[in-house]
Amino acid sequence: MNPPDAGARTLARAFLEQTLSSEGNALLLEHATREQVLRRLASTGRVAPARGATPPDAGASPAPAVTASEIASARDLESLAALVASCTRCTLHESRKNPVFGEGAAHARVVCVGEAPGKHEDDTGRPFVGRAGQLLDRLLMSIGLPRTSVYICNVLKSRPPRNRDPLPEEVAACAPYLLRQLALIEPEVIIAFGAFAARTLLETKSALGRLRGTVHRYSGYPVVATYHPAALLRNPGWIRPTWEDLQIVRGMLDGAGDREARIG
Ligand code: URA
Repeated sequence: MNPPDAGARTLARAFLEQTLSSEGNALLLEHATREQVLRRLASTGRVAPARGATPPDAGASPAPAVTASEIASARDLESLAALVASCTRCTLHESRKNPVFGEGAAHARVVCVGEAPGKHEDDTGRPFVGRAGQLLDRLLMSIGLPRTSVYICNVLKSRPPRNRDPLPEEVAACAPYLLRQLALIEPEVIIAFGAFAARTLLETKSALGRLRGTVHRYSGYPVVATYHPAALLRNPGWIRPTWEDLQIVRGMLDGAGDREARIG
């Protein structure tokens, strides 16, 4: 492998300053040549290809996509986040501002899963930070869980343009990240917020109304499905049933177990 030259290092450092500092990008810094860094930058859409530089689709090999086996063997959440930061497994990396990996306690008892980042999340690189996120914080507090005590993430790690529905190929490309996140965190319960997260995790087309009130399983982990906080902002009448769903979670954490976790 060619050693990095000074120009490549400067470019890579500028890139790092704009994005999450991560192991993956640090590797880029250590090993890339100027040509490789320029190509990588152009492929992210963050900078225009340098004048006279070979366009990425004109014979140059594009940045290699992160493989499912790399994802499955990530040792910790930091290494996994680094893979997400350089991920090109679907086209959403072209339009996103920031990847939104997820955040929270590394061994949280509860993992909250939403659909996909929205504008505020894309701007900040953090999950559930807009109005829906503020409501999520209050819902969690209502069962004694400060935001920092849980782990919060989404099915998709990149924002779909104009918040359109995620496409099946985007879900398929991103699913290994969620699986690995769960395997590393080993939560006692997953809360699926909204029909999209619930249907994706439970691989069903059932209506959310039918999925609520029962404890399901995803990859061996108990799953409780409830309304998305954004839906609650539009339909405040659903706050009460959501609170009831969250009581199932509270009961599980308090040791009631899944068998008793039913609502009427
Ligand atoms: N909606 C989601 O599903 N996830 C977020 O992170 C924000 C809004």
